[in-house]
Amino acid sequence: MIRAACVSDIPALRRIEDDSFAADRLTRRNFHHLLTKGKVSCLVHEEGGQIGGYALLLFRARVPIARLYSFAVLPRERGNGIGRALLDACEREALGRNLTRLRLEVRPDNEAALRMYRAAGFHEIETVADYYEDHADALRMEKALGAVNPGKGGAPVTRAGRARSPAKSPLTSRRRLPGRDALEARKPRLASP
Ligand SMILES: CC(C)(COP(=O)(O)OP(=O)(O)OC[C@H]1O[C@@H](n2cnc3c(N)ncnc32)[C@H](O)[C@@H]1OP(=O)(O)O)[C@@H](O)C(=O)NCCC(=O)NCCS
Repeated sequence: MIRAACVSDIPALRRIEDDSFAADRLTRRNFHHLLTKGKVSCLVHEEGGQIGGYALLLFRARVPIARLYSFAVLPRERGNGIGRALLDACEREALGRNLTRLRLEVRPDNEAALRMYRAAGFHEIETVADYYEDHADALRMEKALGAVNPGKGGAPVTRAGRARSPAKSPLTSRRRLPGRDALEARKPRLASP
């Protein structure tokens, strides 16, 4: 089941962070602030009482674009469709808020994520230079919400993924986080959306 995260989920969210990202992890305090004061939607995938993954969407007033700011699945749960189910839920969440586009940044070498985003109908709109902590560039991708899933015969985007072996590296280098103050002020470093 996919549901909105609550404060009591923070230890599980922190664990996913530690197991998924090599640097710039969201802290307990970041999560607490985001969940209680942020203009966000944090969705978790829960099965048998265990949270296997989460997706964090940021919103800005008068901006019709939702930003998928953070997104990860526990390494041992990958390849089972959780990521895709969360991505679909993010689209529904943004659509439900009458937003027209979903935007995200991804490392060009993050093959699993790139493949998932492309299969879900995202396309690259630009390269963001020096985006990550190690100065790597990011690909910025976007999807017009309500668009059909390419290659799926026009069916709406609703499927769950099938089993697949996990990506080789469990730790992903992630985007550079905005400073805590910026995060808490809900003004991410990147102006978009
Ligand atoms: C990216 C991530 C969220 C995918 O989650 P997941 O639950 O494993 O994904 P799913 O099982 O739903 O797979 C969905 C699609 O992703 C792609 N994919 C998933 N694992 C893959 C792999 N190891 N290699 C290539 N493509 C892969 C496929 O297109 C797959 O669709 P398919 O099964 O129809 O081929 C997960 O690998 C992860 O947490 N990675 C570390 C954190 C991260 O990179 N976050 C994204 C930052 S932009």
